[in-house]
Amino acid sequence: MGKIDIQHLTKEFRNRRRSPRPGDDAALRIGDRIEVLRDIDLSFDRGEMICILGPSGCGKSTLLKIIAGFERPTTGRVLIDESPVNGPSSNHIFVFQHSGLFPWMNVWQNVQMGLRRMPDNGQRQEKIQEYIDLVDLTGFEHYFPYQLSGGMQRRAELARALAVNPDMLIMDEPFSGLDFLTHMKMREEVVNMHEFIGKTILLVTHNIDDALIMGDRVVLMSGRPSEVKLMRKLAFPHPRNYEEEPELNELREELYFMLGVSHAV
Ligand SMILES: Nc1ncnc2c1ncn2[C@@H]1O[C@H](COP(=O)(O)OP(=O)(O)OP(=O)(O)O)[C@@H](O)[C@H]1O
Ligand SMILES: [Mg+2]
Repeated sequence: MGKIDIQHLTKEFRNRRRSPRPGDDAALRIGDRIEVLRDIDLSFDRGEMICILGPSGCGKSTLLKIIAGFERPTTGRVLIDESPVNGPSSNHIFVFQHSGLFPWMNVWQNVQMGLRRMPDNGQRQEKIQEYIDLVDLTGFEHYFPYQLSGGMQRRAELARALAVNPDMLIMDEPFSGLDFLTHMKMREEVVNMHEFIGKTILLVTHNIDDALIMGDRVVLMSGRPSEVKLMRKLAFPHPRNYEEEPELNELREELYFMLGVSHAV
């Protein structure tokens, strides 16, 4: 489960704001059309980790929302396992959120919530512990979210996502706001978890290195109206690094160039 086909997808919004957002045309009036996504055609295999890059405001979150069924496309369609997406499906898709934990429940109870549909045949307790161990929160089972650091909360949320056992995990900038070391640790955990569970993961990031180190596939979107500027399969084994993979390093240069920035300053 978890194959995604995006076919001729376009999305337009009607402007409802008096003052333009960054990137908007200054002459934009209320009711004017904003073309966000233009003829997007993409196809992803089951179990892939897909990393989506693109400038701010280009429509990455909108694309994820359409795939998750929270937004409807203007034209075109999304198929998941050959069936068109017509609305949200909590059984199949889990949307990873920054503060998705229940504040009145401890870590154990939060993860248990993810497993509520699983019959309690004696394996439930073991499963909960397995997911907590996987995200390195062993010993913190009885802590409430307010007693955890931001990074630990994010890891607990990850354990809950795993417990739901969705066919697909959608992550919109899951590492934003984390300190450097926690960011590195989290991304290692997501890669390990992906190798372990093999589910389709769609991850939006602003970080070129995250996309190249983590993804099985990288997609670069252009500025608005957004089109697919580049799509590349990354068939490099993990753990990955640029020193051992000159091709990956070349692609990094290319992506920096295409996004109009430089990593050497
Ligand atoms: N509900 C909405 N109504 C009107 N315009 C919207 C709506 N949602 C998004 N937009 C517009 O669509 C464009 C794309 O927004 P989106 O949030 O998808 O961008 P993004 O690529 O995720 O940006 P960022 O990297 O900053 O998160 C923006 O110009 C935004 O203003
Ligand atoms: Mg976004």
